[in-house]
Amino acid sequence: MSTDNSAGGNNGAENGDRSGTPEIRVHGLHKSFGDNEVLRGIDLEVASGEVVCVIGPSGSGKSTLLRCVNLLEEPSKGQVFVGGTEITDPDVDIDAVRRRIGMVFQQFNLFPHLTVTDNLTLPQRRVLGRDKEAAAKVAAENLRRVGLSEKATAYPGSLSGGQQQRVAIARALAMGPQVMLFDEPTSALDPELVGDVLAVMRMLADEGMTMMVVTHEMSFAREVADRVVFMDGGVIVEQGPPSQVIGSPTHERTRHFLSRLLDPAMAEVEDTPPPEPDKSV
Ligand SMILES: Nc1ncnc2c1ncn2[C@@H]1O[C@H](COP(=O)(O)OP(=O)(O)OP(=O)(O)O)[C@@H](O)[C@H]1O
Ligand SMILES: [Mg+2]
Repeated sequence: MSTDNSAGGNNGAENGDRSGTPEIRVHGLHKSFGDNEVLRGIDLEVASGEVVCVIGPSGSGKSTLLRCVNLLEEPSKGQVFVGGTEITDPDVDIDAVRRRIGMVFQQFNLFPHLTVTDNLTLPQRRVLGRDKEAAAKVAAENLRRVGLSEKATAYPGSLSGGQQQRVAIARALAMGPQVMLFDEPTSALDPELVGDVLAVMRMLADEGMTMMVVTHEMSFAREVADRVVFMDGGVIVEQGPPSQVIGSPTHERTRHFLSRLLDPAMAEVEDTPPPEPDKSV
């Protein structure tokens, strides 16, 4: 009987190198906008091949955290390392850093006047200096991965929101990133289009991609995340396996957030003042 349990598992985390340097390391991260201290000391490590879902109420700093990880925002204090390189070092080559980090936003940000293929080849040619033929080959390969080969010559306006988001994911993948950051990638989609996008993200997780995903999709977090991080007020309140953080959270703030998320009707009840007693009875 084999005692090797490394081949199992329901995602690609086991394929990653958990023993080495974390793919992402955030140390003592603070970020203020004027007087508004949005991140108040975040410490977080993401191992190679790990999928971390970040959840938390609106305004808790989730997007700001992701944006600091690829320096779309400059941290006020603290350090961020990607693949062992300190990207907050003032001497770092920021373009080289960004090439290693793919980011997918709620809004897809595709160029409407370019075909799907041209949306994928343009950044490869501009940023990586690939020639037209090589870029087209990588574009085709990544469109195939997201199940959209047949849309290669279409324009974004003729695609559904879910298809546009999958193109945006393919565009990020075509750059060959080491890590992928997703900021609520399905929030702008009609409910029936969410599943196809989540399926692509699940595939990436299975392939061993290192991922940080801000999401309200609790079933995705439960199934795919190795770890769930709950943020509130610019700090990490608790983190752990999804079964623990979503299934039996230890902090009241997490419980409150989840109860509102999982049962919006309850949130409405909580927010609505009690009705006046009916004096007619
Ligand atoms: N560029 C900016 N300039 C000023 N304030 C900002 C900026 N970006 C974010 N903030 C503020 O930082 C706080 C956290 O915002 P952030 O977008 O990180 O929250 P979030 O957790 O992603 O919320 P949501 O779930 O609504 O997306 C908010 O109070 C927001 O107004
Ligand atoms: Mg956000």
